[in-house]
Parts: sequence; C-alpha cells; structure tokens
Amino acid sequence: MPPRVFVTRRVPELGLALLRAECELTLWEGETAIPRDVLLRQVALAEGLYCLLTDCVDAELLEAAPRLQVISNMAVGYDNIDVPACTARGIPVGNTPGVLTETTADLAWAIMMAAARRIVEGVDWVRHGCWGTWGPLLLAGVDVYGATLGVIGYGRIGQGMARRARGFEMRVLCSHTSPAEAESIGECVDLDTLLAESDFVSIHTALNEDTYHLINAERLAKMKRTAVLVNAARGPIVDPDALYDALKAGTIFAAALDVTEPEPLPQDHPLLKLPNCIVVPHMGSASIATRTKMAVMAAQNLLAGLRGERLPHCVNLEVYRQNE
Ligand code: GLV
Repeated sequence: MPPRVFVTRRVPELGLALLRAECELTLWEGETAIPRDVLLRQVALAEGLYCLLTDCVDAELLEAAPRLQVISNMAVGYDNIDVPACTARGIPVGNTPGVLTETTADLAWAIMMAAARRIVEGVDWVRHGCWGTWGPLLLAGVDVYGATLGVIGYGRIGQGMARRARGFEMRVLCSHTSPAEAESIGECVDLDTLLAESDFVSIHTALNEDTYHLINAERLAKMKRTAVLVNAARGPIVDPDALYDALKAGTIFAAALDVTEPEPLPQDHPLLKLPNCIVVPHMGSASIATRTKMAVMAAQNLLAGLRGERLPHCVNLEVYRQNE
C-alpha cells in the first residue's frame, strides 16, 4: 500500500506529480491556511506531511499524527516547526535552501529601492490625480547608489544582497555572521556599528529566541534619521510598535517589509497608515520558476523520508545520529 501523504495547500503541479507517482495524496484545496482542526484530523493517518510556513507543527500536531515518518516544509525557514519535538520523535524535517536565494534577494532589493525612492507614494500620487506639475522637492527620497548597506544575517540571501550592492558601488557591513563568511564582500561589524553607520539595514537572519524583536526601540534609535529598514526574513524580528513610533517620529526615514508581525497584517494596522512604510505580503520567493523549484525540492525531501533514505535537505540531522 502506498504511503499516505497530506499536503496543506495546492503547490506547483510538478511537486504534486512527484508525490502522486509514489503516494496516496490528500490535498487541502482551500485558498487560505488550513484550519487547525482540519489539519489535526488530516495528519492522523498520514505517514508524510508536506507543509508550508503558515502551518504550525508543534507537539500537539505530532501527538495527533502517530504514523508520521517525515515532515517537509516548502520553505527555507522552519520557525513554524518545533524541530526539537520532531527530533525527539525521530522525525526528519526537510526545507528548501538555495533555490530561492536570488529571487528573495531580488524582492528585498526591489522594496528597498521602492522605499528609498518613494515609488509607492509616487504611484499613488499619479493615480489620485495629484500630479499637477514637476516639483523641486516633490517626493524626494534617499540615494541608494554609493550608500552603505548593513546586512543582518550574512547567509545565502544576505550575501545575495551584498552582491547586488556591489553593482551600486555600496559599502557593505554585516553582523550576525562569521568573519569567514563576511570576507567575500562585507565588513563584519557588531550590530551597534552596523546600525549607526548604515543607510540601509536589511534583515536576513533566522527567527529564534535570540532574534525575536532584535530590532526594538533602542536599536531603531541607533539608526540614522535618513536610514531605511528592510525586512524580508521573519516579521517578529522587528517590534512593530517600536517601528511604528520610529517611522512616525522620523527616527528613521522609511521601512520596507515583506514580512510582518502578525501575518497577515490586519487592514487597520497603524503601519499601513504610514506613507513611509511599504508592506508586501510575504512574497520574497514568489516567482513561478522559484516556487516550482521549491515544490519539487520539498517533494524530493518527503519521498526520501518515506523511502527511509536521508532527506537531501534536512534541518535536524541529529535525528539520524540518534538512530546510529
Ligand atoms: C520564505 O519565507 C521561506 O522561508 O521560504
């Protein structure tokens, strides 16, 4: 009998086709994240769980899924999963590193440019019939070319930002990295120096207990009044109340957010009322080609786990060591 797999949302067809070839597949067809009670019911019989960053995989879910052998997250980040709890049950967890690096760096770069040059305000200005004439001070922003970029978390995507910065002749600072990684392009500095010297501060670190609200009121106050904050990593790395206060008071110039706390941001959230805050709906890896690669990679992880092989991209390798 083929293994039973539950997939928590429709993903690109190439990924589903790989799964269908070897598994009995059940798919949540809803447009939004699967309701918790449905998810808990569905995992009860599943040997494989193919999930997304919108699904919380915690001890309660693992309790409800006694047959589960492998979990595959179609994302590079996996803060939605209680990995130690999975490891304790001997369940390997897969993710999708590498394939989304450039697409995500492109998006972070795009929203950084948009915030610096007030593109969204400009589009609204024209749309709302406000474009009366050319103005010497109209929608004046800050320059990207030749400025200093501070990258918090100099992993794959952070380094992708640094490569883009090279084309703009920028100085690159980085924190939350090892000096060996930083050597290629960036200067490795402490966070306070990065905040004080950067014109653009771009966050690319993982969310964990050390980075939760890493950017708070105190740290925002260390940034330049002309600085732009970019977050394309995880929303809770930035304290949203402190960011609102800083943007409102002019402590920093602007923010560009692909991720927020909470997600989605409610329509009446104060951040959405600020002209100097751009928010897009967690779409860093959203190109057709990249989402297809992620769907395939996540399927390959899941299938490997179901065959009893090592996942090609496993976040808890210790699960294998404890079985040796
Ligand atoms: C997206 O945020 C991802 O982690 O893949």
